[in-house]
Order: sequence, then C-alpha cells, then structure tokens
Amino acid sequence: MEHPLAMDVEAMRRAGYATVDALVARLADPGADPVLRRASAAEMRARLGGPPPEQAGDYGAVLARVIDDVLPYASRTDHPGYFAFIPSFTTWPAALAELTAAAANPYCGAWMEAAAATQVELEVIDWFRTWLGMPAGTAGLLVGGGSAANLTALLVARDAAGGPSGRTVVYVSDQAHSSLARTARAMGLRPHQVRVLPTDDSWRLSPETVAAAVRADRRAGRVPFALCASAGSTNTGAVDPLNDLADVCAGEELWLHVDAAYGGFAALTAQGRALLAGVGRADSVTLDPHKWLFQPMECGSVLIRDGARLERTFAIHPDYLDGNDSHGEGEVNFADRGLQLSRGFRALKIWMSVHTFGLTAFRAAIQRNLELAELAQALVRSHAGLTLMAPATLGVVCFRREWPGADEAETERRGTALIDALESTGTALVSSTRLAGRHAVRLCILNPTSSEGDVRRVIEHFAAASAPRAPDAPAPDTPAPLARAPLARAPLAPAGQRVGPGAAGSRAGVIADPDGDVLRTMPLLSGAADSTVQAIRARGVYLDAAGGEEVIRRWDSDRSFYIVLSGRYDVVIDARLIRTAGPGDHFGELAARDWGGGYGYTRLATVRCAEPGRLLKLTSEDFQWLVDAEPAVKARLATILAERLQQR
Ligand SMILES: Cc1ncc(COP(=O)(O)O)c(C=O)c1O
Repeated sequence: MEHPLAMDVEAMRRAGYATVDALVARLADPGADPVLRRASAAEMRARLGGPPPEQAGDYGAVLARVIDDVLPYASRTDHPGYFAFIPSFTTWPAALAELTAAAANPYCGAWMEAAAATQVELEVIDWFRTWLGMPAGTAGLLVGGGSAANLTALLVARDAAGGPSGRTVVYVSDQAHSSLARTARAMGLRPHQVRVLPTDDSWRLSPETVAAAVRADRRAGRVPFALCASAGSTNTGAVDPLNDLADVCAGEELWLHVDAAYGGFAALTAQGRALLAGVGRADSVTLDPHKWLFQPMECGSVLIRDGARLERTFAIHPDYLDGNDSHGEGEVNFADRGLQLSRGFRALKIWMSVHTFGLTAFRAAIQRNLELAELAQALVRSHAGLTLMAPATLGVVCFRREWPGADEAETERRGTALIDALESTGTALVSSTRLAGRHAVRLCILNPTSSEGDVRRVIEHFAAASAPRAPDAPAPDTPAPLARAPLARAPLAPAGQRVGPGAAGSRAGVIADPDGDVLRTMPLLSGAADSTVQAIRARGVYLDAAGGEEVIRRWDSDRSFYIVLSGRYDVVIDARLIRTAGPGDHFGELAARDWGGGYGYTRLATVRCAEPGRLLKLTSEDFQWLVDAEPAVKARLATILAERLQQR
C-alpha cells in the first residue's frame, strides 16, 4: 500500500537482515569491545548532532551510523567483566521478541484489543507469583522498571490505608533503593512521613527496630501504613529477615512491601529460595525481569497479594474509552491496574526467552552467578591486604583494599584510583559504594557471560595493583569559595536569652563570642572558611537547654543539627549511655543529612541535657549547605557518621 512512510517488502527484508547480521556480529563476542567507552558531550555532538533531514536517506547508511557512532559509546552491560551497578545481559530471543512486539505493536491496555498479549502477560505474572510462593489471588503487571514498580506498590498500599494523609508514615531501611525516596517524593510524602531506619551489622533491618519505631509513631498519633523491606539490597545484596518482618507487619497491620527488584529471581534456585524465605508473605513485591531474568531494559514488574486492590487504586473509566471497559470473567484490562494507559507488549520477551531456553537454563545461569560471587568472597579473604566489607549475597560482594596508615579519605581516594585503573584496561568495570560511610568496591555478578577467570582477574587487580598515596595537599591559605553567600550577621540578642528546644527560635537571636570561639575551635569545622563559620552563626538558632531536658527524642522525625556551645548532653539509646557531648561537639547529624530525596534518618537516640548550656541549632537544609560548602567538613563527617552508626 502506498503511503508516505511505506517501505517495499524487499527493502524491509534487506533492512531487517542487515540489522540482525550487525547485531549478531556484535553479540557473538561480548568481551571483544572495551567494557565501557566514555565520550565527551562535544564528541557526541560532533558525531550525532544536527537537524533532522528533510529528505529520505538510505537505511543501510543509517544503520552504519548506529553501528559506528552510537552503539560503541556505551558500557557493554553484557561484557563478562561488567560487574558494576546492575549488569543487564539480555537473551537473543528476548531481543527478537522486542522487535516482534514493536513491529506488531499491540495495545496491551485492554483485553478487547489484545486478548492473547494480555493472556501472555497474565501467564508471565503467574509464573512470577509461583516462583515467589505468593497465593492465588495475587495480581500484578509489567512496568518500566523497579522504580515504577515501587511507586505502583506504594500507591496501592496507601490506598489500602485510606488514601493520602499528612499523618501516614512509611518505613524504609538505610539500605533501601533510592527509588523509594523518589516514590515517597512523587507521592507527596513530607520528610516527617518517611522513617529511614538503621540496619544491623549484616545490613539487614531488625524486626525490633521496626516494631519500636512503629510503636513510637502510634504513640505520637501518626498512622504507620507500610514497611519497605529489601530482598537483595542494591548495596550489598542483603535480604532483610522477611519472615520476622512479616510477623511484625501482621501484628501492626502494616503493609509489607518487598523490593526484590534485582534479587527476586534467585528464587528460581534452591539457594536463592532459601535466602528469600518469607518473600511470599509480602503484600507487594517489586521484581525486575530486566535484571536477573536477562531481559532488555524497561521490564519491571509488581505483584500485589490482594490483586483486586490494583483496580481499586488505578481503574478510571472515561467516556472516550467506552467499549474498552467491559470485560467478562478472566478478561483483564491492564490499563486498569497501573499508571500506564498506552502500554506495549513487554511480556512477549519473557515468554519467548523462557520458552526458548527453558527454566533449567535460567536456573543454571543464576546459580553460576551465586557461585562466582562466593568465589570472589573466598579470593578476597585469601588476600591479607583486602577486607571483606559485605559477604557474598545474591551475586553482590563488597570489599576494599587497605593501606597501612591510610585514613578513610585516603583509603577511598586510593580505592577509587584502582577502580579507574581497572576501567582503563577495558577488561572489567566495577562500581563503588559506601557502607556506613566507609568506601567499598562493589562487585555485582549477574552476567551469564562472566567466568571464574573474569572474577579472579578483578580480585587480583585490587590485591596487587599500586595506587600511590596523594602528595600531601598544601594547607589552604585562601578560604574555599562558598556555594552561596553568607548571610549578614543579625543583631545581637540580649545575653542569656532562652529559647527552649520546643519553642520556635528566632534566627535573629544571634549571640556574640564566646560562642563564636567554640565554633572556631570545633574539630568538625577546623579549616573551614571564616565566612562559613559566620554563615552558620547567622543561620542557626541559639537554644539554652535546662538540665534533664530532652533535646532530641528517639524515633522522632525532626531533622535539626545541633552544635554544643556549652553544657553537657547525654546521648542515650534504651537507657544505655552512648556518649556525652560537650562544647565543640555536635549531634543530630544522622537525621540532618540527606539520605535521599530530602528524607533523613529517624532519630536513633535520645539526647538529654545533663548540664545546662547553650546549643546552636541548624536546619537540615543549612546543615546540608555546610557539608556542600566545605569538602573537609564533609570528609570529617563521613568518618564521624560511620562511627556513630556503629554505636546505634
Ligand atoms: C533493589 C532495587 N530496587 C529498585 C531499583 C530501581 O529499578 P529501575 O532501575 O529498574 O527503576 C533497583 C535498581 O538497581 C534496585 O536494585
């Protein structure tokens, strides 16, 4: 048929064959290219910039540009040495399914328009349900990825709790994925509605911590509505104790959401199933086929135990979709179950690749990854210069090289240099993270292409390669430039003016020295520019605390940061005295720091005034400004935060 965008059938075939030939050549040897080819924006503009052509071009020439100018400038996430972030190998049948789905392009929002495609998606979701051990009645859908799945799940959870309210509270661990912070932000949750809870020494959330935080919130009249647990945290692969958390949630009538985005498919193996015990008890689960089920990007999924809740949360039937909305028994309109109306045929790639290879092959691929991670762990343990930072769990291992005498900053600088050096070989790529503020190299072994040799090479590199100490930086004689101009000093307040911690203190109440002397000699601020110290004084609120007064209460949600100008303050957890803060010390930094999306830790300790004195209180925004303005303060804080998190 003639139309402006028609291609004759022979040209279509030629274009298709040429594309397949080029891709097969590329995929035949994933290790042949460097694992990552970076490029500057200028180089990319030079290669790819320019207005769209008005006239037709030759498909072969267009394809050649893609092969030469586009595909090489990326990471090869299927490279056997790709151990960074989350690798994403994709099977060839899944890629062909993408082509098939795109070429056929069914509308997968309504049964009426895509009965078979809808049934394929229902089948795939039901596979997932059984793999996780969720009951019949569970429903779900495919979405763009883990972020979209987390948002979908929490919207359903909030709806189940009665809808939006300023009193609702959601709990996440400090190891939760950042998409949950974005979810909370997208849902309009304010900082006091998200409780970031500390994990234990194994990077897992303890049920006692959750129960205590929930009880404190209920006492304060707030409405806890959901707990987000991890089943394969991105940092370490840690799996929260799902059965115990499910018990707490059942007792507290709290929705249990499990983010198993990358780790959940380990349930296909016996080892993974044991690790994920309890996942089937969740009210909702995030599971990303584009991670450990070897599917192309943009394939996430969410499962909801009480499947009917999906439609209660999302179904809306406008007049212009009349005819689309009536469906008989078993006929599902996926557009009623999520955020997307127009949606493509994501399920086909999963269905085609599983039918092509069979589950045994998927199980074997995942099992091999689990074993390679254990090999990496054993190799780390065999090298005296390497420290295991988090044990091999669900394909993730964290470790670091130690250098005698190197402090945290120097360890991170040298560790990062080793990571860069590895990247420059083109043979492997790893990423880094921080665990309780401490630098760690992170290996995520999810590619079926990776072998024992690839893992050995990486560990040997970190054990043996040299990363020279940086020449000692000269002491700065000029203040670091400020990110924003310091505020003008405010007028002096009358000496001894009291502003209680509970009262709305005035920023105008700025007192002159000796408080200023304390600030200037504080270890935290040593080396900070005078203008920074002045800005802190101008931005802060001065408080006079009385003996016995609680400045901070455990589990509260306020996020202020306190500098001790005078007096003494006991930091107490469960009646246990953790430390006493005196002049020049500070507290409240864990909650004041941005964990992500503007949310911070809940208060982990109570701070009680033991000897009357004066405090300077900064908002979390001003605290963040201080950290951003002064790199030395930031580095010192990282060390302090690491220590204080250990004391929790
Ligand atoms: C545990 C976890 N949750 C959620 C996500 C977000 O998934 P996506 O990148 O597919 O949006 C990730 C991504 O790495 C993850 O590891």
